[in-house]
Amino acid sequence: MRTARTRITLRNVSRTFIGAQGERIEAIRDVNLDIEDAFSAEGRDVGEFHVLLGPSGCGKSTVLRLIAGLDRPDTGEVLVNGERVRGPGRDRGMVFQKYTSFPWLTVEENIGYGLKINGVPPGERRQTVAHLVEAVGLRGFEKAYPSTLSGGMQQRVAIARTLALRPQVMLMDEPFGALDAQTRAAMQQLLLAIWEETANTILFVTHDVDEAVYLADRIYVMSARPGTIIEEIAVPLPRPREPSVKQRREFVELQQYVLACLRRAPGHGQVRVSV
Ligand SMILES: Nc1ncnc2c1ncn2[C@@H]1O[C@H](COP(=O)(O)OP(=O)(O)O)[C@@H](O)[C@H]1O
Ligand SMILES: [Mg+2]
Repeated sequence: MRTARTRITLRNVSRTFIGAQGERIEAIRDVNLDIEDAFSAEGRDVGEFHVLLGPSGCGKSTVLRLIAGLDRPDTGEVLVNGERVRGPGRDRGMVFQKYTSFPWLTVEENIGYGLKINGVPPGERRQTVAHLVEAVGLRGFEKAYPSTLSGGMQQRVAIARTLALRPQVMLMDEPFGALDAQTRAAMQQLLLAIWEETANTILFVTHDVDEAVYLADRIYVMSARPGTIIEEIAVPLPRPREPSVKQRREFVELQQYVLACLRRAPGHGQVRVSV
């Protein structure tokens, strides 16, 4: 038997920005979200993979930034582990679409950076970094600088750097959005493999239906701006997920169902169907 624990809660959260010409941009309106993490009968955290899916500009990054504590809602509340979010914290790690490694640090220095500023002793730091370098397939590139690496490799550095701090919740904002289709597919598989091991909660943002169904245990579908959650869809496909799952009838049916939800949404915008 599995039990659940609420990790992230958004209650009636709205956020309006003021644009460059002084115009009001209502990004999200009345977003309600309950993200639970699953635990085994023995109380072991088995993690859940949550995906926030919606058209470009619907407010996905806004939601993620609020959960990360990088922004404040105008109305409503954002809770993590039952506590109101007041700023960034070690319980949450964020991976952005843009590669965000420090260009003046090597791969291993980037991955170990958070550990260093958190006072983790050098011996333990080296061990964690070595393990993560291995996990994300960057062995042999420890001393390389990010600018010499491909986009996929740079994103692996960012994922490893975030994982190093063992956050309870990983917030990932279209991390594979800038990658070519083949690299993207490889990164999806890599992420699932790492996640099977770390078993933390992931909230992954994408506008790609195929990516959402492939990765998720649960998909939250957002409407176009002002974004709000219009549907929650469970993805009961077996794990570990091999890429061949995409050929299964259940996969294709789920994909069709998710697309229909997006099309029904008021003012539906661009959504990528598949890669
Ligand atoms: N800091 C900001 N200032 C002004 N407008 C913003 C700001 N952040 C986001 N927006 C606007 O809010 C809307 C939602 O943005 P965003 O959350 O980035 O959408 P998504 O991530 O789904 O593409 C967009 O119209 C965007 O231009
Ligand atoms: Mg975004």
